[in-house]
Amino acid sequence: MTDTRQKTLDYARQHHEQFLADLKSLIAIPSVSMQDAHKADMQRAAEWLANKLRALGMENVQVLPTAKHPVVFGEWLGAGKGAPTLLIYGHYDVQPVDPLDLWKTQPYEATQQGDLLFGRGASDMKGQVMATLAAVESLVRTAGLPVNVKWLIEGEEEMGSPSMETFLPAHKDLLAADFCLNPDAGMIAADKPTITYGLRGLAYFEVHVWGPNHDLHSGLYGGTIHNPAQALIELIAGMHDAQGRVTLPGFYDAVRPVSAEEHAEMSKLPMDEAFYQAQTGVPALWGEPEYLPVERTSARPTLEVNGFLAGYTGEGSKTVLPARAMAKLSCRLVPDQDAHEVHRQLLRYMEEKAPKTIHWEVKLLNAGPTAITNRHLPAVQAMARAMQAAWGVQPLFKREGGSIPIVALLQRNLGAESILCGAGLPEDNVHAPNERLHLPTWYKAIEAYIHFFYNLA
Ligand code: BES
Ligand code: MN
Repeated sequence: MTDTRQKTLDYARQHHEQFLADLKSLIAIPSVSMQDAHKADMQRAAEWLANKLRALGMENVQVLPTAKHPVVFGEWLGAGKGAPTLLIYGHYDVQPVDPLDLWKTQPYEATQQGDLLFGRGASDMKGQVMATLAAVESLVRTAGLPVNVKWLIEGEEEMGSPSMETFLPAHKDLLAADFCLNPDAGMIAADKPTITYGLRGLAYFEVHVWGPNHDLHSGLYGGTIHNPAQALIELIAGMHDAQGRVTLPGFYDAVRPVSAEEHAEMSKLPMDEAFYQAQTGVPALWGEPEYLPVERTSARPTLEVNGFLAGYTGEGSKTVLPARAMAKLSCRLVPDQDAHEVHRQLLRYMEEKAPKTIHWEVKLLNAGPTAITNRHLPAVQAMARAMQAAWGVQPLFKREGGSIPIVALLQRNLGAESILCGAGLPEDNVHAPNERLHLPTWYKAIEAYIHFFYNLA
């Protein structure tokens, strides 16, 4: 190892406390993109990051408005035209914290307990954003950056990145880069560094069902009025067959089959039935029997009930026949499915299956594209070697079941491939109460990113 590389790594090791303090300050800003009450917090989080970038000597730092939440941009092009330009992606928005009563600590007061830091966004993805900032700080304060960098930190990822569809084409020159470092994916386990090369897409719906024009006494009307809650449950129950396959008409038509080669690779990943049972505590797994669990969570599409609202759920018993019911449904999509096509499939299903006894409406809330990235790029190899240096083992390659819309949008608009990584672990409770970050893994990720910069140069 060169002296300079060692100096940079030493800087990072000597500044763990400061990096952690920075992360806590960012977590303290409740930047929930989905909730209008947090609009000002979104601006505050963006300004906080912009100031951080300025303090690191980044130039042309801007908080750029969009139709919804601002984007933080900054750049440093001092490595010159001969050096590669790396776009570093992040999102500063987080998911809502409810149900609040299930949190054991305050979600916006990051709390350290042993090796874990609890707080909303600790893992998804304020911790990951701060890891890239920490790596860049370590370089800037020692040897200097060996490559050009640009930052794109958005505030709408958790709502499907709606503004990015127009923001990217409108800022093509500003954002032009050779490839993108995206630490919004995660690892299989703390001792198993992971590079992600595929993401599922998303089609998110609200389905409303209503019948009577007001709530009814269930004794006076039950038996002659089709209960909207029951009708919606019946419709949802019909959306899967007994094998766990989705029954929307044409749902699998565009699904790219898993190749024999990829199946063989996936069967070697340390993600068997026992892994999923240990992660979740379920008594048994569910889903298409002819696919591996990891195939079912990454290379096969799904339909989930994310929420259901109907009738009385308060204390005691209330004999009511509710006038309306609503469900939040979403499909995770795989290449070459398209969210708008799946929207049409859901409408067709409802047209064919909804009974005459009710009215219904389907709303498409957001649509995110699927992505497969090129895992044979030299930059991906640079990351693989960086992870090997930080963890002492070769990284595993996997497809992820979650969605990160920007990855496909960058391919489409800038022709830029992403290197998908991250220090998040399956047990981090992302999007759930008690979200947490495993600090030893986070410190390793910072070192991996430092190695990555040196490997790129
Ligand atoms: N970081 C996640 C996606 C993820 C989670 C990748 C775990 C790898 C491992 C990202 O922030 C996320 O949650 N995305 C949303 C996007 C959606 C709202 C379009 C998702 O997947 O639900
Ligand atoms: Mn997320």
